[in-house]
Amino acid sequence: MSTPTGGTPMRSIFITGGGSGIGREVAIFFGERGWFVGIADINEQGMEDTLGLIPGGFKYAHKLDVRDRAAWDVALEAFSTAAGGKIDVVFNNAGIGHGGPIVEQTGDQIEDVLDINLKGVVYGAQAAHSHLKKSGPGSVLLNTASLAGIIGAPNLAVYCATKWGVRGLTQALDAEWAEDGIKVSALCPGFIDTPIIDKVAPETNRTGKEMLEEAGVEVSPVSAVPTVVWDAVHGDKVDYTVGKTAGRLLFLTRWLPGRVRKQIRNQGVGTDL
Ligand code: NAI
Repeated sequence: MSTPTGGTPMRSIFITGGGSGIGREVAIFFGERGWFVGIADINEQGMEDTLGLIPGGFKYAHKLDVRDRAAWDVALEAFSTAAGGKIDVVFNNAGIGHGGPIVEQTGDQIEDVLDINLKGVVYGAQAAHSHLKKSGPGSVLLNTASLAGIIGAPNLAVYCATKWGVRGLTQALDAEWAEDGIKVSALCPGFIDTPIIDKVAPETNRTGKEMLEEAGVEVSPVSAVPTVVWDAVHGDKVDYTVGKTAGRLLFLTRWLPGRVRKQIRNQGVGTDL
C-alpha cells in the first residue's frame, strides 16, 4: 500500500466485493486509469489476488463484512487516510445470491440475502455520507442493484426484493443528498459471468450459468461492466444497465409493463425479454 504525496490529488474509489467478479474487474480498471483503489471484502485471499492485478502502488485492502455497521466506519476512515484524506466514490457492490422457490429457502438463506444485499448497502450508504460530502460536489455513491431490481423474476424472489430495495434507496438518496453535492446511482447488470452464477444447483446438478445459457438468456462477460461503472461515476443518470437484456427491460417495464408480466409468467426470464 502506498500513500499519495504531492502533485495532482488522485481520485479515490472504495469498492466492496473487491475480492471477486465485478468488484475485482472494476478495481483493476480504475487502478489502470490512475485512481487510488480501496477494496473491501470478507474474502482475504480474493482481495490479495485482486491487489496483485492492480498496477502501481496506489491500492489498499481492508477486510470488511458489510453487515457490520461499526466496521464500515473503521474501513472508510482507514481508506480515506490511506488515500490522502478523501474518498470520491463508494461502490457499494458486495452481494450474494440464493436462487430457488421461496418456499424451499431456509431462514438462514433468506436472512443472509436480506442482510448482505440490502442492509449492507444501507449501512454502506450511511457510513459513506460524511466522506462523500467532504469530497463533493461531484462525489458518487454507486449501489449495485441488478436486472433483478428492474423485474421480479421467478425463483429469485428474495434476491429481487433486495435489489428493488437498492434501487429505491438509490433514488431516495439521490434526492436527499443533492444539496450535499453527492450523486447516487444504481448499477443494474443483467447476468454477468462471475462466480455468483457458477454455483451448482443441487436439484439440477448444473451451474446457474449453464442453465441460463441453455435457456438462451444473455450472459455478459465481466469485462462489460467497468466502462458502465466509469460512465456512472462521470455521468448524471440514476440507473445504469449492463447488457442488452437489462437495458431492454428497463425500457419495457416503463412502457409495456403488461407485456413484460405476461412473458415472465409464461416463460420466466426467457429469450424474448
Ligand atoms: P461474486 O460472487 O464474484 O462477488 C461478490 C463478492 O462479494 C465476493 O468477493 C464476496 O466475498 C463478497 N461478499 C459476500 N458477502 C460479503 C459480506 N458480507 N461483506 C463483504 N463482502 C462480501 O459476484 P459478482 O457477480 O461480482 O457480484 C457483485 C454484485 O453484483 C452483487 O451485488 C450481485 O448481486 C450483483 N449482480 C451480479 C450479477 C451477475 O450475474 N453476476 C447480475 C446483477 C447483479
